Amino acid sequence: MRERQFQEEVRYFNRKLTEVIEQKMRRCSNKILNDALNYIMATGGKRLRPIICLLSAEAVGGSRDKALSTAIAIELLHNASLVHDDIIDENSIRRRNPSNPARYGEKRAIVIGDFLFGLSCEMLARCEVPEVVGLVSSAVSDVAMGQYLEFMLRKRNLQEVSESAYLEVAALKTASTFIASTETGAILGGGSEVEIEKLCNYGKNLGMAFQIQDDVLDICGDPAKTGKPVGLDIKNGERTILIIHALNHSHPSEKEYISEVLSKKKDISSSDIERVRRIFINSSSINYAIRLSNELIRGAKSCIEGLEDSEAKEKLKDIADFAAERIEKQALAEFIKV
Ligand code: IPE
Ligand code: IPE
Ligand code: MG
Ligand code: MG
Repeated sequence: MRERQFQEEVRYFNRKLTEVIEQKMRRCSNKILNDALNYIMATGGKRLRPIICLLSAEAVGGSRDKALSTAIAIELLHNASLVHDDIIDENSIRRRNPSNPARYGEKRAIVIGDFLFGLSCEMLARCEVPEVVGLVSSAVSDVAMGQYLEFMLRKRNLQEVSESAYLEVAALKTASTFIASTETGAILGGGSEVEIEKLCNYGKNLGMAFQIQDDVLDICGDPAKTGKPVGLDIKNGERTILIIHALNHSHPSEKEYISEVLSKKKDISSSDIERVRRIFINSSSINYAIRLSNELIRGAKSCIEGLEDSEAKEKLKDIADFAAERIEKQALAEFIKV
């Protein structure tokens, strides 16, 4: 039932996004850019950010129509940042299909990302509320800052990377677009300051949980379900929550092995990934990350408890639960026995 309602929301949003994309395609004569627009619709995505934006407007008693162009703008900027992220991370598979850089080449993918950012700005301008334009624009620079900070962490000595540095990156690169979604939705829905703050905190908690779950799925996920490759964070020497926890909770020889593997970069084999996964399991790092993300999900739901009861509020709580269930649904069961 809840799943069905969520799928209805996705279908509703996809219809609206398709209208915008088709309009843009009629105005754009470039074959590759048109193909890239088509590709966004063909390959899909969970559409979490726009859906929580629309529901936030409704949860404060407003209409979703007022938040629609902003929700579309946020989904487009998210897609743009994924195109650029796949260049940075050298990721060839996303949403079960070749990533944009794999499909079009890196140089074209840079332009495609910018093209999507441009379309996102066009949509944002339609909301005609300067405060909202400012918030979404800040989220774009937060994502860039998060991505940059992440580069810096990749280069830093492993022992020097703390969990708080990781959480700062996650807040910037991931939670920022969730916060922008709920905050702008609540503003456009005419929410009070208190309501806006509650939804903002919901977005922050959900976004943080979401990045932690993404880290877990990178190593424990079934690629047929996540639509992404396994172990890419390890290959890229990413300082994920699992790496940071395992370094503080494993045997010295295992710590040494982790450092060695992370410095090997692209030459990592599947048996290296298997061994790192074993270390994460033995040091309870996976359990730790799942517990932390579940706490954040509980936090997200409790942040909006004080809002007046509504269907939208219930849907927002369900979405937080879906996000938590993502691990069980998309991970290979033997890796996440808690
Ligand atoms: C992927 O975001 C990037 C992260 C922040 C972890 P999503 O998992 O929301 O991507 P799609 O849009 O559903 O593909
Ligand atoms: C992507 O982060 C977040 C963005 C800001 C685009 P990741 O690199 O961790 O996400 P995935 O795993 O590629 O989706
Ligand atoms: Mg990536
Ligand atoms: Mg990345």
